[in-house]
Amino acid sequence: MRTLTLLLAGISLSVLGCSSAQKGAKQDADVDARVRRLLAEMTVEEKVGQMTQITLDPFAKSGKDGHLILDEEKLREGIVERNIGSILNCAGQARTAANWQEIITQIQDIATKETRLGIPIIYGIDSIHGANYVLGATIFPQNIAMAATGNVELMEKHGAITALETRAAGIPWNFNPVLGLARQPMWPRVFETFGEDPYIASVLGAAYIRAQQGDDISKVTKVATCMKHYLAYSVPRSGKDRTPAYVPERELRQYFLKPFAAAVEAGTATCMVNSSEINGVPVHSSTFYLKDLLRDELGFEGFVVSDWADIENLYTREMVAKDRREAVKMAVMAGIDMSMVPYDYSFYDTLAELVKAGEVPIKRIDEAVTDILRVKFQLGLFERPYPVKSMLGDVGTDANRQVNLQAAQEAMTLLKNDGPTLPLAKDLKVLVTGPSANKLSLMNSGWTLTWQGDKEELYPQDRHTILEAIRAKIGAENVVYAEGVAFDHELDIAAAVAAAQNVDAIVACIGEPTYCETPGNIDDLTLTEPQLNLVEALARTGKPVVLVLVEGRPRVIRTIVDNAQAILMAYLPGIEGGQAVADVLFGDANPSGKLPITYPKFSGGFTTYDHKTSEVQSTKGLNEQWPFGHGLSYSTFVYHDLSCDQSELQPGETFAVTVQVENQSDVAGQEIVQLYLSDLVATVTPPVKQLKRFKKVKIEPRQKQTVRFELGWNDLEFIGRDNQPVVEPGEFKISIGELSVMLTVPEFKR
Ligand code: BGC
Repeated sequence: MRTLTLLLAGISLSVLGCSSAQKGAKQDADVDARVRRLLAEMTVEEKVGQMTQITLDPFAKSGKDGHLILDEEKLREGIVERNIGSILNCAGQARTAANWQEIITQIQDIATKETRLGIPIIYGIDSIHGANYVLGATIFPQNIAMAATGNVELMEKHGAITALETRAAGIPWNFNPVLGLARQPMWPRVFETFGEDPYIASVLGAAYIRAQQGDDISKVTKVATCMKHYLAYSVPRSGKDRTPAYVPERELRQYFLKPFAAAVEAGTATCMVNSSEINGVPVHSSTFYLKDLLRDELGFEGFVVSDWADIENLYTREMVAKDRREAVKMAVMAGIDMSMVPYDYSFYDTLAELVKAGEVPIKRIDEAVTDILRVKFQLGLFERPYPVKSMLGDVGTDANRQVNLQAAQEAMTLLKNDGPTLPLAKDLKVLVTGPSANKLSLMNSGWTLTWQGDKEELYPQDRHTILEAIRAKIGAENVVYAEGVAFDHELDIAAAVAAAQNVDAIVACIGEPTYCETPGNIDDLTLTEPQLNLVEALARTGKPVVLVLVEGRPRVIRTIVDNAQAILMAYLPGIEGGQAVADVLFGDANPSGKLPITYPKFSGGFTTYDHKTSEVQSTKGLNEQWPFGHGLSYSTFVYHDLSCDQSELQPGETFAVTVQVENQSDVAGQEIVQLYLSDLVATVTPPVKQLKRFKKVKIEPRQKQTVRFELGWNDLEFIGRDNQPVVEPGEFKISIGELSVMLTVPEFKR
């Protein structure tokens, strides 16, 4: 099947008559020949070393002011004696690009000059929302906020900038994009995803991968991407990180596999595996997920890296192996090519023993090492293992900052605006309050400068918190600040209420503290009580209350929604977030984000927008606070004339849908036009609707624009009773906004 995919790729490229395709094919052949030659010279230890990835910490000597110096002897032990092929992470905190360049140079010096075969190290890092471990880099909104922008071009720019700034530090491999679907809102990694919908995650994930890798990852501006965490990591039944998911194969294929399929199609070079289990089977131990599905069916040809300590976890946590030896054998035989060990040489030693004892065939090792070396060659690491000095100036440029600000502005999602209350006039006096108002860290959270993102002192002090941005916009004399509460306890609500007496409006910035992964687990999705109390007390003053939600997942705020006249979802908007919030509050930017996740009303019984009809249990509808796709604007958009160029569709045919969008206001604005499809009757209970296309358009005041979407037969597919994709005859409803049009698929010969 892998050969077949290759052949197909070759065919489609040659059909284009493209000489770069021929060049690409030649390069592939060259790379394959070089890999074969190198592999033929390698000892078992050298091969097993390539499959070993160690974190930076054990090599770190303390450094002044975060300036890290590595211990040469420890590096030699790892790279020369234990032959390790990869290093990851930042040893605690972000470094300057210059320090990174020194670190990478030191590592590559030893790898290329002191080892027998001179194989360079592939260094990997989590550049999750920008090059977030490089001081001074462009720190973008987290992925959930990028999904809210509905702007694919912006996602591409984010991808390209992040690749450039990561590679400027000398790092060629990025552990992103996160392609899990946020269909369990309690999960602490919701903010790393593109939300609950497989189509949005597929489109944005693929756009990011293409932008980061380009058509040639050996270019010094590009990085190898790592789609993660394959597969269904994002839906733990308990809502807690790294706990079991139970997903029937049909649902896996209908939803969770799709973004990964798109990422493979986009050519992602590597794949990281779900730390946990699906239906009782740890993914790190499963040939079905790692070979049958990933390699044979999706056609993935890069290499597979474990997640943090997850081979060890097979015997210490998952209890599917009795000891390390069994765990290593199980994982490697299932299809793990590289182990993120991460602290010691236990994997290396154990795997070498297993190979020598004939328990792991050398053929399997050769397969894994081939895939790893291929990526190293493709990255050009053999020719250019070192960072490019002149790229230091590429980090955090003004131009990149502008893109970042645009992303943060476009992410802003206006959930409620009675009156309208927003935008606020700039001559008003306001009270700014709440625990999220005056910290940069809270707008960035996990994966920012440190793993937990909580070291406020590391954040660039020239950027504005929400409070500072509002002061800068309307004058400090017009702004009163009283924090009111912390996340988990009250500070002085009475002082905040008193401060509200002399203002015209209250801006309450509430949400979540910083967190990442397991430390972000919660038992209740409801916003913490002190914050609810603050808003209730402020509402009693009778002044207009604007809530700004600074949160990585949709915390339940049902009891205070009626207390606020306006509610702005800021998500985790990144380092320009303060500016972006102030711009939207005071009308310098028109909000255009839409929720990429259903905002629940209650802390339980969660549903997604693409639920089944039976899930609507009462006349009150779903238990949602705001639906997926919701987001208001300062413009008024009205849809007209929805039409489809086909009323009947035959197998293999395509169809086009057009709609006219009118801006009936005097304010220019952007609208994300969302096209949904509903299969009215099917042999597997159909979702009420599914997003099939979206497009962001800018429309000037009092202007109209026609938006056209092309769809195909495959868009009518669902996963049938036999777990295979199928299109069934019947009626399909296409809807955009309040409008809809029908499409019929007549009986056809199957
Ligand atoms: C996370 C991964 C990350 C890795 C390396 C793990 O704990 O689950 O997403 O890439 O650490 O930092």
